[in-house]
Amino acid sequence: MIRDLDSREEAIVAVAREAGELAREFFSKPIEIKLKGKQDYITEADGQVERMIISRLKARFPNDAFLGEEGGAEGAGDALWVIDPIDGTANFAHGIPHFCVSIAFMAGTELALGAIAAPMYGELYRARAGRGAFLNDRPMRVTDADIKQAVVELGWSSRRPVRAYTALIERVLGTGATFLRAGSGALGLAYVAAGRTHGYCEMHINSWDTLAGLLMVREAGGWSNDFLASDGLRRGNAVLACAPGLKDALVTATGVGQANEKLERRIS
Ligand code: IPD
Ligand code: CA
Repeated sequence: MIRDLDSREEAIVAVAREAGELAREFFSKPIEIKLKGKQDYITEADGQVERMIISRLKARFPNDAFLGEEGGAEGAGDALWVIDPIDGTANFAHGIPHFCVSIAFMAGTELALGAIAAPMYGELYRARAGRGAFLNDRPMRVTDADIKQAVVELGWSSRRPVRAYTALIERVLGTGATFLRAGSGALGLAYVAAGRTHGYCEMHINSWDTLAGLLMVREAGGWSNDFLASDGLRRGNAVLACAPGLKDALVTATGVGQANEKLERRIS
């Protein structure tokens, strides 16, 4: 059992904010950019921001474990921090300000805390299980809409075939909703929680991109499939998160969260 969630909550917010500021400094100067896969970018900022986050958290919680996008897994135990130092790296690399730092904390199998800093927007999102989700201290609530007025973000990566993505777009557009792709899964989920968009779906995404945002959607009254089923923590999974009134239409259109996906759960 994790005893000290209060101090971890305080730390996750402070460290996400500091990491966001470091990312913002890198954004404003020329830095080295490389491809680690097809349309999969890495910059010198990613590693440095991740190392800063881990060193700050380790100094306060030396026995905790870490799973970072860049550095992989470190340590073991029931207290696990899941870190994406820069989500929306392609945007970041191209000078587009739509990127964020995303940090989640798992207490055993429970998603307990999440924080997302979007430094170029001056936005800090946070959530704690059972205690709500906030955007700069304003409580967040998902927004329901008629599917014909809904905006659903559809994430893409080269980890799934292009055809699967174009078919997903067709099926979602077929419901009457529209779609966007803004290039940060973490912010895409935070936007659902904030009621700016109505849903987020991606056929494969990693836990560091999603966990903080998923907790925010849950705490803001939304629904999601069970992302952590089938070892989603380490292998990634499909994700669908949305306002509750859109669940049926979007589950049918995307195929994510159907009854045969065991362990699916209502999040409210
Ligand atoms: C990616 C972004 C993107 C999502 C991909 C992620 P990165 O992370 O979140 O929006 O569609 O699945 O890999 O590379 O920007 O850290
Ligand atoms: Ca990411």
